Amino acid sequence: MADIRFDGKVAIVTGAGAGIGRMYAMELAARGAKVVVNDLGGARDGSGASTSAADQVVEEIKAAGGEAAANYDNVATMEGGANIVQTAVDNFGKVDILINNAGILRDRSFLKMTEEEWDLVIAVHLKGAFCVTQPAVKLMKENGYGRVIFTSSTSGLYGNFGQCNYGAAKMGVVGIMNTLKLELAKYDIKINTIAPTAYSRMTEDIIDEKMGAKLRPQFNSPMVLYLCSEENQTTGQIFAMGAGWYARTAIVSGDGACIGDAERDITPEEIRDNWDKIGDLANDKPHDSGTSIFSYMMPLLS
Ligand code: NAI
Repeated sequence: MADIRFDGKVAIVTGAGAGIGRMYAMELAARGAKVVVNDLGGARDGSGASTSAADQVVEEIKAAGGEAAANYDNVATMEGGANIVQTAVDNFGKVDILINNAGILRDRSFLKMTEEEWDLVIAVHLKGAFCVTQPAVKLMKENGYGRVIFTSSTSGLYGNFGQCNYGAAKMGVVGIMNTLKLELAKYDIKINTIAPTAYSRMTEDIIDEKMGAKLRPQFNSPMVLYLCSEENQTTGQIFAMGAGWYARTAIVSGDGACIGDAERDITPEEIRDNWDKIGDLANDKPHDSGTSIFSYMMPLLS
């Protein structure tokens, strides 16, 4: 089979001035894509700004013979999102691929978290995903083609101490994907979510250097590049990865228990008495949309 290439394709990678996003941008450009390297260039906690992070990655791509343009806008505003997409249009004429990757951290235990810490993290990860994706997808719809990636995290999908703001935002992007995949199903626009793992400035104080050497940011790129390729026909799924391990992960439900007859009232005692059956995930299934949950209730509804 032929190599996966991106010749003629235009990609936007947000937060591509460092870490995992930088590797996506470099690898996409190495395989022929024209890349908008967006990065606000601030600190890990979202403070400050600088043009140097995006500029440096653009220089690296150009030095390797690729094509790239820098953008320094904040993903967390509608104006920033519009400018990022406009940078792609002005420099390369269109948008085929959007990788929502920019991120910050403001960790604090739930009881100590401030409103500012909550708002900032939700703004960058969750509102930022909306602000950039809306103008990008508008163009993709007009062109009849697109590939979009949202970046979640195991902290949101499964939980992590001190990250209720980050975890909420990271589950939130799954919610955006779940809606968008339905709204764009009839176009050739595939939307997926990834939960990466890598040694970067975001994780350097929780992962030791020895393990960090094996959690290289570039190990996340092959999955993201495949999902962003023309070949990929998967949409609306979540993939977790790190160090060369790749797996689909999903929100699932079990068969559950049909109690009563949809007419008589059901008691809390009946919930208690059926607890094992209600909690049994042995026959777990993911769902393509919220309406598919009705299939479980059918014995009661029909
Ligand atoms: P990083 O801190 O190395 O890179 C993030 C980049 O985003 C930085 O260059 C930063 O300047 C940029 N950025 C931050 N706020 C921005 C804004 N408002 N607008 C534009 N750019 C902005 O972090 P890393 O590790 O590369 O993370 C990339 C993504 O992967 C993030 O969304 C992160 O939450 C996610 N992630 C990372 C994990 C890891 O193990 N490193 C684990 C799970 C998720």
